[in-house]
Amino acid sequence: MAESMLGMKRTGRCTGFTRDNIGDKATVMGWVNKRRNLGGVIFVDVRDISGVMQVVFKSEDDAALFAKAESLRNEYVIAVSGTIVQRDEETINPNLETGYIEIVADTLKILSEAETPPIDMSENSKTNELLRLKYRYLDLRRPTMQENFVLRHKAVKVTRDFFNDNGFLEIETPFLTKSTPEGARDYLVPSRVNKGSFYALPQSPQIFKQLLMVSGFDRYMQIVKCFRDEDLRADRQPEFTQIDVEMSFVDESDVLAVNERFIKRLMKETIGVDVELPIKRMTYEEAMNRFGSDKPEIRFGLELIDLSDILGNSGFKVFSGAVEKGGSVRAINIKKGYEKLSRREIDALGEFVKTYGAKGMAWIAVDKDELKSPVTKFLSEREINMVLERTGAEYGDLICFMADTNKVVFDSLGALRLEIAKRFNLLEGKEKFSFLWVTHFPLLEYDEESKRWTSTHHPFTSPLDEDLGKLETDPGSVRAKAYDIILNGVELGGGSIRIHRHDIQKKIFNLLGFTDEQAHERFGFLLEAFEYGVPPHGGIAFGLDRLIMLLAGKSSIRDVIAFPKIQTAACPMTDAPSQVDDIQLKDLAIKLDEEQIKGQ
Ligand code: AMO
Ligand code: AMP
Repeated sequence: MAESMLGMKRTGRCTGFTRDNIGDKATVMGWVNKRRNLGGVIFVDVRDISGVMQVVFKSEDDAALFAKAESLRNEYVIAVSGTIVQRDEETINPNLETGYIEIVADTLKILSEAETPPIDMSENSKTNELLRLKYRYLDLRRPTMQENFVLRHKAVKVTRDFFNDNGFLEIETPFLTKSTPEGARDYLVPSRVNKGSFYALPQSPQIFKQLLMVSGFDRYMQIVKCFRDEDLRADRQPEFTQIDVEMSFVDESDVLAVNERFIKRLMKETIGVDVELPIKRMTYEEAMNRFGSDKPEIRFGLELIDLSDILGNSGFKVFSGAVEKGGSVRAINIKKGYEKLSRREIDALGEFVKTYGAKGMAWIAVDKDELKSPVTKFLSEREINMVLERTGAEYGDLICFMADTNKVVFDSLGALRLEIAKRFNLLEGKEKFSFLWVTHFPLLEYDEESKRWTSTHHPFTSPLDEDLGKLETDPGSVRAKAYDIILNGVELGGGSIRIHRHDIQKKIFNLLGFTDEQAHERFGFLLEAFEYGVPPHGGIAFGLDRLIMLLAGKSSIRDVIAFPKIQTAACPMTDAPSQVDDIQLKDLAIKLDEEQIKGQ
């Protein structure tokens, strides 16, 4: 069919030929990557998904063909036939397998012409991302972008292979459904047939995968789109893909064991990296205390040091006041920080931590024979000496202090240590992929704004057995059978063992502020299902986009999603979201609030 349509038949991709093919006839098809006219000779690089083939046109061989080659412009789509020959010595490119050969053309067909591309199509495109996304189909022609999707495809294939080999079934769950709470806002879809009612797009398949456990599919997985209306960042999109996993008759260690074997195989089969098992584990509490983060980057030190016991009774009210109010004073010791940072740079770090809620940043610098500091004047000699000893302070060091609620101290010092690592290149020479399980997350968090408890993970997460007794008396201290997997300081996935007891699930819903009626209205079908025989179960979901981003060494998931959204959750190429016809709205019984729309 290709032949009758094009009059030519592709015999291989551009890089599908080697020196063994010298003397063969070949036909390649693709885009004009580059055209060089050296007088009597024109070189054209033809590019397809596999790479580039050099094609030569010589005026002495065929003047008409040469003239046609002269008319070629970048991004024209062409078909070229000819003979594969060895390149002249001086034009050999030893970096490419096809760098030793070229096609001497005898036929050229222009399949389609192309306007000058509105974006810079080179490998290191200088075009800003917004314009690249408007012309995403062109942006995706760039080999660096295409490589990301080849990698993504491979990863998805290995994922399906691994879970298939381990007895998991892939089962699809609905997109038009009821709200699945994962802490974000829902995307709603109005129903025409049931006017005034809305479906919610799933934030995850959480409830359905639990129901599949009730049905007896004891090992489920799905590569699935999820939808969350939340503020976007480099590692967050409104629609993204999860590798979603659920298992019955398991405890935490079973889930971690299977999934780390998955990680090992995935890393090996996609990018050839060996991951040593078992993956390191750390409790949430340790992660916070040492790194100020529940997704700690553990490849460098700069750990947090708790000084609350030393400074809690200090005459310096900033310090003692924070401890009195239940917070803490903690520090990091930036080795040689005083040597490397100017006074202005230290002040700038003080401003930097303010973006994380800190009110200020006290510091002590160890100079030759003295200490430099805006706060030593408020501290006793004993306090200073104890601080120097605990922080292991040496000449040239800079000790940065934060005193506040634990949340602010962790957030700001956690961020400061990452910032310092970036500036001082502390990751240089470290292992490229560092995995970590963080376990025993708190079950609940208190939301000051709404004055109520919310789930740290989601409301189906099981408390630790030994903490069950504290659910009523001290909910904030109850730990969960919940775990996250972290790669290089990025949360790659998270999961938990679920509550499978109807009474405990009800208790948690009540703690979260749902009355029995509300719980029944939102999750009645789940609670009911739990009355008909539910196996103990648990699982995890990995963020596929984040995984590929890290494997590809990118810093944004937009680079590994073919058609991503921008910050405003819009698509610059299709202009979605867009207005709809009045008729459509009428069908749905929806009236717009024009005032609110104008005021946005
Ligand atoms: P969680 O909400 O932690 O858990 O999500 C799991 C993983 O999904 C990825 N992720 C995202 N990726 C891109 N853009 C987003 N907006 C986004 N939100 C989340 C992250 C995250 O670690 N149902 C539970 C899992 C379970 O308990 O089994 C869940 O969805 O990599
Ligand atoms: P002040 O008493 O406000 O002049 O602060 C004295 C020093 O303490 C300054 O260097 C401030 O940056 C620092 N500082 C103020 N508040 C805090 C805080 N909550 N934690 C740590 N240092 C602080």
